[in-house]
Amino acid sequence: MHRNSRLRRLEDLLVGIIVVLTGFSFVAAAAASGERKPSRPAPEGWELAGDLDNGKLIYKQYCQKCHGKRGNGQGTMAKDLEIKPRNFTDEEVMRERSDWQIYLGIKEGGAPVGLSEQMTAWEDTLTEDEMLDVATFIRQFVQTEATGDH
Ligand code: HEC
Repeated sequence: MHRNSRLRRLEDLLVGIIVVLTGFSFVAAAAASGERKPSRPAPEGWELAGDLDNGKLIYKQYCQKCHGKRGNGQGTMAKDLEIKPRNFTDEEVMRERSDWQIYLGIKEGGAPVGLSEQMTAWEDTLTEDEMLDVATFIRQFVQTEATGDH
């Protein structure tokens, strides 16, 4: 009797551990795959169509030092950051992001969506068009990789 109830408790404990571990791995998988929700939905019919050339200039001036010349997240400042800048050539993560999420990430920064606070909001520095332009530019890092036509 005594032995049985101890065994039962052990079983309960094991089941508990498995449940917790499964929960963790789901959360970890979601974090690793970068699933995130934007802080608010895109307006009806919103489309990203910025100026690529101007976006490149903006990127070079403001973003490259962290996100890297090739968008791989290895800019000169990246080594000082605990949470590394997004690698824009990471297809797996970038394909999960909508254009709207990329744009909002630039406009409002990382904090509202649970990303690093080191990614600051740019809405006070850049104009609306400049944010759209640089978002458009960031998009081509994956397309470049995927199609190799640049
Ligand atoms: C001080 C370094 C730094 C600078 C400068 C910087 N970023 Fe970031 N950026 C980060 C970090 C760190 C993250 C968050 C990564 C994380 O939390 O996983 C990030 C995240 C992002 C994201 C979110 C990607 C996603 O996963 O949704 C976008 C978009 C972005 N940056 C664009 C830009 C643009 C455009 C500029 C220039 C206007 C810029 N960043 C300048 C460090 C920087």
